Amino acid sequence: MKIAGFGVEEWLNVWEKSAKYDIAQSTISSMKLKDILALEPDSGKDFLDAIMQEKFNYGWIEGSPSFKNEVAKLYENMPADNILATNGATGANHLALYSLIEPGDHVIAEYPSYQQLYDIPKSLGAEVGYWHIYEENNWYPKLEELRAMIRPNTKMIALNNANNPTGTILDRDFLNEVVKIAREVGAYVLVDEVYLPLESDSNYAPIVDLYEKGISTNSLSKTYSVPGVRLGWTASNAEVADIFRKYRDYTMICAGVFDDALGALVLKHRDQVLARNQKIVSHNLAILREWVENEPAVSMIYPKSVSTSFVKFNDLDPEKTEDFAIQLLKTKGVLIVPGNRFDLPGHARIGYCTDEATLRQGLAALSEFLHEYK
Ligand SMILES: Cc1ncc(COP(=O)(O)O)c(C=O)c1O
Repeated sequence: MKIAGFGVEEWLNVWEKSAKYDIAQSTISSMKLKDILALEPDSGKDFLDAIMQEKFNYGWIEGSPSFKNEVAKLYENMPADNILATNGATGANHLALYSLIEPGDHVIAEYPSYQQLYDIPKSLGAEVGYWHIYEENNWYPKLEELRAMIRPNTKMIALNNANNPTGTILDRDFLNEVVKIAREVGAYVLVDEVYLPLESDSNYAPIVDLYEKGISTNSLSKTYSVPGVRLGWTASNAEVADIFRKYRDYTMICAGVFDDALGALVLKHRDQVLARNQKIVSHNLAILREWVENEPAVSMIYPKSVSTSFVKFNDLDPEKTEDFAIQLLKTKGVLIVPGNRFDLPGHARIGYCTDEATLRQGLAALSEFLHEYK
């Protein structure tokens, strides 16, 4: 089974540890263990006492009841039994695709988005149609194009909502139109939902709240600020969850006793974590906007309170996008993700939800370099 290299992951694997100003990451400022424990009374004393007594066996295979119950609360009508713990959202996407896609299937994937969503189905022998997003359309794809692409044998439509790298949200009304198209042919709609918009008026909805054949994948890595807790999940109807169970036994067994316990703790304090993160997103987005407005060499369709953003370099030769990013890192210590890693050269992902000093200094150094680069 052949698979393409994973553009963004390969870039970060090579370069991320050499950055002085890392403005490439899409997680909202990661929490330390002490920050997580501080969510509990007495700095998490009870939690620590309990985990000290826990045996580090396989624990709960599908995820503990407390984890599954906390996850189920994120949806309108989702039995905890239909939630399956995975190794991050990467594991959740893989599980969904590996379980459902067979050679010869037709899959439609939002493009560009998270590369797993199109390159795993391709590697499994599916025919994958790209449903393009357009900058001039606020990074939305076009429904008429989806209508033209759908086939009686389309097995799945795969989306990333909000989109990595653009930070655009496909809103509830738009998703309802996608569901209508999918329902006509009985296609699954898989949506990677790791980027939850942190504003109340976003008209956002998880796909499982809209469609009986919807599959939501998610994790604690982005909106919940703990990618080091390797915990994600799938949410789906009961029949699909049973299919996943079968394939899951071959790929992961369990998420680990410590990750499960810590993940459940973060989700239990979801309101506090989201309030912390909403502050970071809105504060840092204002800094990013101010920079874009005062920097004539760039433009941006702003993200919708989502932690990833995608900047356009107005005067850069798109062919030179990766070279620009490498020279920027080497001369100024600033890490971005060059847009060619998402098949969108001439742009770059800026992860702006880092600490304020890194963001401000990183953007200032990026500005300097935009005017120095030849
Ligand atoms: C859209 C999307 N899905 C999944 C992941 C990976 O998530 P996890 O760390 O939960 O495996 C990322 C990380 O960049 C992402 O951007």
